[in-house]
Amino acid sequence: VRLAGKIKLGYYPTPPTVSAAIARSLVPAAPGLVRVIDPCCGDGTALCDTTGALDPVERYGIELHRGRAEAAARALTRVIHADIRSVRVANGAFGLVFLNPPYDYDTKAEPDEATRRLELVFLQAALRYLQPNGILVFVLPDRRLDRRLAPVLAQHLRDLQVFRFPGEEYDRFAQVVLFGIRKDLPCRDEGAAQILRAVGHGLSIPADLPAALDPPYRVPVVPAVHPLLFQRLAVDPQDLVGEIEQNGAYPMLLRLLTPSAGAEGFRPLMPLRRGHLALVLASGHLNNELVCDPRTGHPVLIKGRTEKASTRSEETHADGSRTITERDTLKIVITALDLRTGTLQTVQ
Ligand SMILES: C[S@@+](CC[C@H](N)C(=O)[O-])C[C@H]1O[C@@H](n2cnc3c(N)ncnc32)[C@H](O)[C@@H]1O
Repeated sequence: VRLAGKIKLGYYPTPPTVSAAIARSLVPAAPGLVRVIDPCCGDGTALCDTTGALDPVERYGIELHRGRAEAAARALTRVIHADIRSVRVANGAFGLVFLNPPYDYDTKAEPDEATRRLELVFLQAALRYLQPNGILVFVLPDRRLDRRLAPVLAQHLRDLQVFRFPGEEYDRFAQVVLFGIRKDLPCRDEGAAQILRAVGHGLSIPADLPAALDPPYRVPVVPAVHPLLFQRLAVDPQDLVGEIEQNGAYPMLLRLLTPSAGAEGFRPLMPLRRGHLALVLASGHLNNELVCDPRTGHPVLIKGRTEKASTRSEETHADGSRTITERDTLKIVITALDLRTGTLQTVQ
């Protein structure tokens, strides 16, 4: 079961009821473009649904799983198929980060050290991406609000609120949604950290997420960040193959190196003489051509090739010395297969 969880890379999509309630709790802070990002976007559905009330909006996504990244690329404005740890994304360029990082919910065991570290990587990246007054919407299991995450959240975010997933949705994975606004300057807030930790320890039970927050969180419009940095650190080999096939020198070289492909529809201006014909056949231009044998009326498949042959001659001189001469000659060989009788004829 644990392995299955790892194979799906912690893919537990945000339930639609939760996405809809989040969407009703976000408004643009002013008229203008809003830029949002999901650093582990799955197929992009959650980011589209949670930001459905923001318009105009540009949606960015990062996703490690190839199939989901491809689906997200069709739904979002720009998507990188990569590990969050190998991307370069502009700091302070996004008005909203929607974060629902991968957890192994299939096991009751506490997350291992690697999962905890990854969770912190996601949170730190999310905080970096946010512009001042930008909104973080963070989906996580309530017990993860521990002494590691709580101080980081309290240091960077103000106006924090935590809600349980509504109704039965909470029973499945004990998840909560945290909202916060990025402070202009980070500063420690032990009081807020303690409140979050109390939720993590089960000492404080948050309210269920309402259908809409009142007042809603106000998502700031885009700051002038030009050009927006949003790229992979390493080249994806599969993307590279696609790029080479589309834009590289490879297709051109392939055409040059396989003249027969370019010689389709080859039509001489004048009738060929026997010698010309033999050369054309030998060069492979008429390989697999189906012709009709005028003598028998049978369809015949022909193939030509050139073979190198060596001739050797020896000459003995008057003084007893010998000269050995080897000559290479090119021989034209044409093979014809009679498709009625199956007989092969070779002409040299
Ligand atoms: C819990 S799902 C969230 C999907 C979507 N954001 C949502 O809320 O429905 C986590 C996603 O993170 C992806 N993921 C796992 N490890 C990742 C990594 N290192 N970098 C980027 N994405 C990763 C998984 O493939 C999965 O799609």
